[in-house]
Parts: sequence; C-alpha cells; structure tokens
Amino acid sequence: MDRREVLRLGAVGAGIFAFAGLPRAAGRAAAQSGAPTVDRLVMTNVVDNVYDVFAKGGKLDAITVQRSPLGPDGALLAEHGLAYHLESVRGAERREVLLDFSLTERSLLNNYAVLKVDPSKADAMILSHGHRDHYGALPDLARLAQGKLKPGLTLYAGGEDTFCHRVVTTPSGTIDQGQLDQAGLEARGLKVVLARQPAVASGHAFTSGQIPRLTDFEKPPAAARLVAGPMDSACSVTHFGATRVEAKPGELVADNFQGEHATAYHVKDRGLVVITSCGHAGVINSVRQVQKATGIEKVHAVVGGFHLAPAPDEIVAKTVEAFKAIDPDYIVPMHCTGLNTIMAVHAVMPRKLVMPSTGTRVIFGA
Ligand SMILES: [Fe+2]
Ligand SMILES: [Fe+2]
Repeated sequence: MDRREVLRLGAVGAGIFAFAGLPRAAGRAAAQSGAPTVDRLVMTNVVDNVYDVFAKGGKLDAITVQRSPLGPDGALLAEHGLAYHLESVRGAERREVLLDFSLTERSLLNNYAVLKVDPSKADAMILSHGHRDHYGALPDLARLAQGKLKPGLTLYAGGEDTFCHRVVTTPSGTIDQGQLDQAGLEARGLKVVLARQPAVASGHAFTSGQIPRLTDFEKPPAAARLVAGPMDSACSVTHFGATRVEAKPGELVADNFQGEHATAYHVKDRGLVVITSCGHAGVINSVRQVQKATGIEKVHAVVGGFHLAPAPDEIVAKTVEAFKAIDPDYIVPMHCTGLNTIMAVHAVMPRKLVMPSTGTRVIFGA
C-alpha cells in the first residue's frame, strides 16, 4: 500500500462523540476527529498466554516486530492473562500507558522487570473489563507501587460492572473470576474514572467507551455470569443494559459486559490501532465503535484477544468476512483469540497476520 493510498483511506471525518479529557495540546493534534494523533506507538505484549522464544522478528511493510529471546535478565513468564505496555510519541512528547494487568503478580512484576517497564513512569492505566485474567495483579501492583506512581494517576475503567463479582459456569462447576475492589485501588492513590463514553487517556491514547452491539453474530460468552448485587446498587442486575432482569442478590445472571471497552490510538499516516483486550463485546463491534467515535475509517491494526476460541466455525467465518471488509493492514491475535480464528485469518490474509508472544514489541508509525 503506498502512502497516497494510506492517506486516502485514512481521511478524517467528523467524530461522532466529543472526547472527554482532551487536553489542549492533544486537541491541536487531533485534526477534525476529536481523537489525538501520535507519530509512533510501541505496543509491548507484557504478558500473554504463550511465550515463544523462537518467534521471528523483523521489519514488515509498515511495522517492526521485535521479540524477547531468553537473556541474562531472566525468562519471561506466560500465563492465561493479558497485560500491555503502550508507549507513544508525538513530536518531543512521550507517554506511557499500562493496559490490563494479567492474572498473577508473579508474572506481571517479573515481566515488567525483564522488559524494563517501570510503572512509576505510567501516565495512565486502563482496565478493559472485570475478569481476573486482566485485573488479577492490579491490587498488588497498586499496593507495591503506592507512593511511587505519578500523583493522581488515573485508571480508566469502562463502567460500574468492571467492579462487580463475576463467575464462569462450567459443567463441573463455577470458576470464580473474583471482584476487583474499586475503593481499595482508590485508597492506594489511583483515581478511578468510569469512561462510559470515549475518553482520551494520557493525551495520546483513547478508550472506545461502551460498545454498541451492532453485529448479529457476536454474542457474549454463554458461560459468563455476573453475581447480582443488592437492588439499586452498582452491581444490581437492573443497572445494566436495556433488559431488566429479576434476580435476587447473590443470584447469577447472564453477563453482557456492559462496561467493557477497547483502547485505541490514531497513528499518523497509518490509521487506527484498536486493542480489544478480551473482546467479549465482539472484535468487530469494538472496531466499529472506535471508527464511529473518531470518524476515522482507516484501521491500521486490530490487536488483542478476540475471544473466538470457543466459537463455532460459522462465527469465525463471519468475523473473518468482517475483517476483510474493514481491511486492516495487520491483525495481531492474542490471548483468547483461538487457533481456529488464527488459521482462518491466515488462510485468507496471511500477510496481515502477525503472531505475538509474551515480550513481543510491535512498532507502529514512523
Ligand atoms: Fe474476559
Ligand atoms: Fe481474557
């Protein structure tokens, strides 16, 4: 794809939503869309399900992929979880964002150390949703880093339900996903913002806001449940979505992930980089929401867990068809995406597929 085509596809339209928290400097760089633009984004896959020491790196057409081989600083740890470090540059301005916090403190802190990620340099934190494999190490991180983080450091969550008790039902019983303690995080000095609408984080990144369910094939996982809280509390089942459900406190209700949100960047001359994290709201819904929120059509990359591992072939096929319509330059499938979807993407768009691994860095932009 030549530069002229990138520019044509990246034509900026009018954003649908006003971005909350858009600082003046970012506003100047935001063109007409309301979304900030960065020159470069370095996405580091701090923790993921797989650590492949033999994965190849190198320069592709428009991105550079760097790997983390075994080295003197110790081995990276993989686990069922996800954590990112996102470093962006605009001119002389540099920002760092920590997105999601894996399952265990052991993996997250080990990998931060090996990858030389210093949480005290973070300009913002973002949590995608309230599953333990994304927030698990956050309470320990907040405790250990208390007093060392930047003053007033904001944690962006997508809604009240991020802090509700969740479980997953299986034929052999329920798996407790736990409940993240918002007040506990605030007591450690984090400022928790519920970004139900698109919001700028750190002046460079932005969140999608809550994600409308536009496709007819992307459904929340059938096994996901919320534990109903007291009536009229933040975790009351009547609090979420348009469907009112009668349930007593403590009963399990279907989880629609009302407060899940995606993270995105607009990379100059490239387009949007959309990071879904776990993608319960649907990877296609997430991309469409970011496009709508920014008024920017061109998608440079779709990154993250797409939660299609348990999906039937029909859903995978529809997702791949939608990817073809969106036509991103790169797809970086992580965590819960599933080999079924990775193989389907590879079959029809092999040059777009970039396989990540714990410790992988992808450099977008100049
Ligand atoms: Fe999840
Ligand atoms: Fe997950």
